[in-house]
Amino acid sequence: MTSFSKMTPECLVQIKGALRPFPGWRHWHLDRVVSTQDSLREALRQGEREHLALSAGVQTHGRGRHGRTWDQEPEKDLALSILLKPKGRYPPLLLPFLLPTALFTALRTLGVPQGLLRIKWPNDLFLREKKIAGVLIEGEGSGAFLCGVGCNVERTKFPTELEGIASSLRLEGIDRIQYPELLLVFLMKIAGMVQEAEKGQWTKILRTYQEGFAWIGEEVVLATKGGGIQGRLIRLGPKGLQLSNGLRLDVGEVFGIRKVKGS
Ligand code: BTN
Repeated sequence: MTSFSKMTPECLVQIKGALRPFPGWRHWHLDRVVSTQDSLREALRQGEREHLALSAGVQTHGRGRHGRTWDQEPEKDLALSILLKPKGRYPPLLLPFLLPTALFTALRTLGVPQGLLRIKWPNDLFLREKKIAGVLIEGEGSGAFLCGVGCNVERTKFPTELEGIASSLRLEGIDRIQYPELLLVFLMKIAGMVQEAEKGQWTKILRTYQEGFAWIGEEVVLATKGGGIQGRLIRLGPKGLQLSNGLRLDVGEVFGIRKVKGS
């Protein structure tokens, strides 16, 4: 695709074309919102169907997980929310795996080297050990989920408390990617993966998640409410996490995963 530094009518036409093979998928772009999650919730209340993706050039009060704020630079970073309704076709617990996997695959397609990029439990993306992207999934009742994705693309400044922890593609030396192009490729990946999930084919999605996660087979410590649990991680997916000693934990029981040094 042509590279666009800002969202333009031409780019919107390209996105529309890219979504044509996925019946029912629509994309709306708004210049300025408070949060794409709130705008999408409003669209849901107005009767919009699933498979609606809503992006924004400026998001003034983006939200992160655990009540945190999500800060972005206008027209430089990716902010979008997608309305999905798994409705008995695939488990809603697949969503925390599906969304980072689609972003991981989109960034790989755009040339970000796999060695630098990693999915961090449960659904953050890290580039050279710094967070560049996060996912917020909010259940709305009646089976609807608002799936928000934020990715730092071109920003170069962060608030002091995030310095050393967060980064962007640009700061890590990847300067060919701009958010409209990432949006287009991401939408194609997510629409494709949702289509596969709806047909009950999600083994490949989990395999790609595990590839990006990179700690399968490693000695890790799982952070749980009851404290840290150490073991060799052999599997993870919507059914939970499994250690080599046979211990299984539900997805929601594990707050964090760290690798044991030297293992
Ligand atoms: C996190 O890592 O805490 C999740 C961050 C999710 C941010 C995205 S940006 C688009 C969407 N709208 C929001 O208000 N939040 C999500």
